[in-house]
Amino acid sequence: MLILGIETSCDETAASILKKDGKSLSVLSNVVSSQVKIHAKWGGVVPNLAAREHLKNIIPVISQSFIEAGIKPAELDLVAVTQGPGLIPALMVGVGATKTLSYVWKKPLLGIHHIEGHIYANFIAPQRDKIKFPVLCLVVSGGHTQLVLMKKHLRYEIIGQTLDDAAGEAFDKVARILGLGYPGGPIVSAMAQKVAKNKYKILKEKLPRPMLKSNNLNFSFSGLKTAVLYLAKRNEKLLKNKIFIQEVCHEFQQSAIDVLIAKTILAVKKHCPKTVMLAGGVSANQELRKQLGLAMGKNFSRILYQTPDINYSIDNAAMIATAGFYRYRFTKNKKSLLENWKNITASAELKL
Ligand code: KG4
Ligand code: ZN
Repeated sequence: MLILGIETSCDETAASILKKDGKSLSVLSNVVSSQVKIHAKWGGVVPNLAAREHLKNIIPVISQSFIEAGIKPAELDLVAVTQGPGLIPALMVGVGATKTLSYVWKKPLLGIHHIEGHIYANFIAPQRDKIKFPVLCLVVSGGHTQLVLMKKHLRYEIIGQTLDDAAGEAFDKVARILGLGYPGGPIVSAMAQKVAKNKYKILKEKLPRPMLKSNNLNFSFSGLKTAVLYLAKRNEKLLKNKIFIQEVCHEFQQSAIDVLIAKTILAVKKHCPKTVMLAGGVSANQELRKQLGLAMGKNFSRILYQTPDINYSIDNAAMIATAGFYRYRFTKNKKSLLENWKNITASAELKL
């Protein structure tokens, strides 16, 4: 089975072709055109600018995905597109393009939830057959921070979530406060990495670990971001000092990681999953991957700990094609998907 996946929910125009043949699954192409440089000037993603770039790039990106995969549109079995949530002007480009392609090529079309895509990035991994339900997934992206319990494929129960900012958003805002540019996650984590553990030379204060001991599964990152803001204001003269900035990044990152791990461990205790997974852009953070892995190994060595390949952590279309495969597999009336272009709309607030 050959699936074309398309993703345009934020600032990446992405197309991927996935091949599922019996037990084997291979990503034949994974093309991502990033707009990071364009939005960096504005300190965040500008929706209309994003839409204009998607419009410019969508056809070249799709056509490149076919060239790299070495297949023709006629050979496709399914088209899957991110339907939401995300920026409406951006989503509409991908949704509009795939509706047209589905109609013209006479191929079934499926709309995919962006977070479902992130979760299914874990099913690209060769060890996907070892993933057993119930699955607990810690979703950490620029727009979402959720603990999602899956008792079976495509069934999601949100058992915890952020009450304000998402984890990725906090990384981005802290980077802005410290004058480090956009997107913040990769920059803050690179800065943090330069600090040897517990070796702060200049920073004398600790940042809060919000809701760490709240005994529920919710998160809050807005207070942590504000604490960094006040810390920066109190130490204005030190903001030019690289060592100080690295130490603040390390302390902030460790605070976020401590809370994310503590809540995940609490969720495991409450819900007894057989697999724990990580998903979303912040899952590219090496420290989070490593420290959650260590905590899982220490507390629950019999539970499988699964992380997506780093290429499939941040926004991409291979994850959308993979989620498309599983949705297609569990769709009873597959023929109806040929007419699905009539039903699919872009939805900013789509529910999982
Ligand atoms: O999933 P994603 O690519 O887009 C959304 O669905 O939002 O996630 C983007 C977020 C951004 O906030 C970015 O700063 C963060 O993921 N991010 C990271 C890292 N790489 C990306 N956060 C922490 N550490 C990273 N290495
Ligand atoms: Zn994403």
